[in-house]
Amino acid sequence: MPRIDLENFITGIPKAELHMHLEGSIEAELMFELARRNSVALQWDTPEALRAAYHFQDLQSFLEIFWAGCAVLRQEQDFYDLTMAYLRRARQDNVRRAELFLGLQSFTLNGVSVKTVMDGVLRAFDDAARELGVSAALMVIAQRHRSEEAAFALLDAIEPWLPRIAAIGLGGPELGNPPSKFAEFFRTCKQRGLRVVIHAGEEGSAAYVREALQLGAVRIDHGNACLDDPDLVQELATQGVPLTVCPLSNLKLRVVADLDRHPLKRLMDAGLMVTVNSDDPSYFGGYIAENLVECQRALDLSPADIITLARNSFIASFMSAHEKAAALEEIDRYVQEHARGAG
Ligand code: ADE
Ligand code: ZN
Repeated sequence: MPRIDLENFITGIPKAELHMHLEGSIEAELMFELARRNSVALQWDTPEALRAAYHFQDLQSFLEIFWAGCAVLRQEQDFYDLTMAYLRRARQDNVRRAELFLGLQSFTLNGVSVKTVMDGVLRAFDDAARELGVSAALMVIAQRHRSEEAAFALLDAIEPWLPRIAAIGLGGPELGNPPSKFAEFFRTCKQRGLRVVIHAGEEGSAAYVREALQLGAVRIDHGNACLDDPDLVQELATQGVPLTVCPLSNLKLRVVADLDRHPLKRLMDAGLMVTVNSDDPSYFGGYIAENLVECQRALDLSPADIITLARNSFIASFMSAHEKAAALEEIDRYVQEHARGAG
């Protein structure tokens, strides 16, 4: 397929995004608009100056800017605008399903109530389903540099919204904060029937991925480092535990030196259920289709690889079996139409 056709094919194929932090989708212009709206001072003079600061040494150096950006989000309408802006942008990449992270502690510790955040985000989900045909689900993250006690306090605070929360996650600075630090917390989440997903193996080792699996994570967010432990790869493959891989994030946070050295294809070849995602697209320079396009070029992915990744994104999602079947049929139709167009 000629390059331009392959790019269009990638952008247009129906897909799900399973690893995207709502706070990480705030474009510089929106950050400035919300700073003005809420009289919050920013340390940059213009959106261009802010964007110019997006050079990161590692995860920690990124998280400092990411958390600074959270300070502009204060009112229900801000969370609505943020969420709607992401969902509109994702729709341009033919995202039909978006399962989105939110690190609520960043807001509650700024004095914003859980209700303010949830009302804004969930109103946008409802409008996006109606207006854009995108179904969205929310995953609330406990921040791993905070205590397990703080995670339990978060669980208490979100109690009234649990029916609308698809999973509980673990995010933030990985090194020195292994999943096992939250063993009791995740045991409680599981006992209460909540799904658990855990960021592991981004900067951390394969041992962190193993811990995440042992704590009952139904998806591993990132998971790159599992390749260092062949037995672990086998377990993940046998159990069909998905990895939500984020290639441009890995490049920007220097988890990989170059995209052509990214483990995406090796993970796929090892028989793992791999998906491609954008993580924090406004900071890392690419939404989901750009992640796929850049990987296609760097790793010479075939059209069949792209179709596998699109199928995996729905299979690994928390949609119902019926919704998954419908989404997979839609991919089949898309591929057939493309084949007809090419022939
Ligand atoms: N929060 C936002 N982006 C993250 C990442 N890449 N890893 C861990 N926590 C995050
Ligand atoms: Zn992430």
